[in-house]
Amino acid sequence: MARGCGVVRGAGGAVGARREGAALGGRRAFCGARGRVRGCARVAPPRASGGDGARVIATLPGDGIGPEIMNVAVKVLETVAEGEGVSLRFEEHAIGGDAIDKTGKPLPEETLEACKASDQVLLAAIGGYKWDNLSSKDRPEGGLLQLRAGLDCFANLRPATLQDELLEGSPLKPEVIKGVDIMIVRELVGGIYFGEPRGFKDADGDRAGYNTMVYKKSEVERIARVAFEIAKARKGNLVSVDKANVLEVSQLWRQTVADAFEADGCEADGLSLSNMYVDNCAMQLCTNPSQFDVILTGNIFGDILSDQASVITGSLGMLPSASVSSPGKPGIYEPVHGSAPDIAGQDKANPLGMVLSAAMMCRYGLNEPEMADIIEDAVKSVLAKGYRTGDLMGASPAGAELTQVSCSQMGELLLETIAEEEIMVSFMPK
Ligand code: IPM
Ligand code: MN
Repeated sequence: MARGCGVVRGAGGAVGARREGAALGGRRAFCGARGRVRGCARVAPPRASGGDGARVIATLPGDGIGPEIMNVAVKVLETVAEGEGVSLRFEEHAIGGDAIDKTGKPLPEETLEACKASDQVLLAAIGGYKWDNLSSKDRPEGGLLQLRAGLDCFANLRPATLQDELLEGSPLKPEVIKGVDIMIVRELVGGIYFGEPRGFKDADGDRAGYNTMVYKKSEVERIARVAFEIAKARKGNLVSVDKANVLEVSQLWRQTVADAFEADGCEADGLSLSNMYVDNCAMQLCTNPSQFDVILTGNIFGDILSDQASVITGSLGMLPSASVSSPGKPGIYEPVHGSAPDIAGQDKANPLGMVLSAAMMCRYGLNEPEMADIIEDAVKSVLAKGYRTGDLMGASPAGAELTQVSCSQMGELLLETIAEEEIMVSFMPK
């Protein structure tokens, strides 16, 4: 497939030459909170925090299968960046259980500061049985929540897209899931996850645990606006999910989304907005998932619905995510799946969710859509050639010719595919 060979960048980060290509026409994409749609001119020059013009990627391999899949993603990024003349520098830091073992804290100060100073953050996975009995803020998960909050990564984009080759991987019938292509936009640094007061107390001779689900108008407005931009670059069909029949916080959410939609003239931009209660949405995701385009929702509803949506596609190991902040600030890119401690260190993990997260980083964080295209094409291509990690072996129609490969072999196959593509493109008339 022909594609734009992207931006050739000199050491100073200056834009050099751009070759013509077909890729920009074929896909749609959105540049997250930065509000840029792919194919548009660069709005702001990329940050060059490396000093030498290189953009710094903080890598957080974390726990379990994290280091194995990170290894693959970094090699893929290095190869594609080199081919595209983009200068990246990777700096590794500890998070999660790994950081607890090394420093006693799931998010050491040094890691947070390094992430804040980086251009983008690539995170693999955290958690494991070993740290399961710690209190909630000391657990590996606490480190992830502190990182999201510390970087103010308020918009979590979780695509659930069906790869045609993996149609049989879903527990739902092929006719129900055909064409599923959903983007969940989840508010990530507010709601019940962070609301105060929270804690435990003794009450009337009994013991209680409590949390607070709270959203300010400003928090709802900023996540709604991200969802509007995303919807504009997709089919334009936005569903806001809440529990407004019971919760005041949801009533404010619903009204604020509607007001922002109107104030921004979204209808004139071709968007449609409807509301759905979260319980109904959970049901509709099973019965009629292809009705959804963009789902906008709060932190805890988004947590639950995104796991559910991932199962529709039948390939949890394939799903990437992006958590973006305000323009110019680093985002966090991580696969949706966990650390899979049961297969850690065995070279069995599926690195594709991690690799596709790296592609999202290129698209939304680095504004290098051509790099994202190359990586996503390579993933499609290795799947089309029948290569599968163990978790995907049952996901293809009976009779498909499949070859089971390890995590590192999958990485090698991606690199080969990328190299083949580069050679093909270099022979194409300019
Ligand atoms: C997720 C995870 C996290 C969350 C946990 C690990 C804190 O489930 O990213 O969906 O609840 O947000
Ligand atoms: Mn979750």
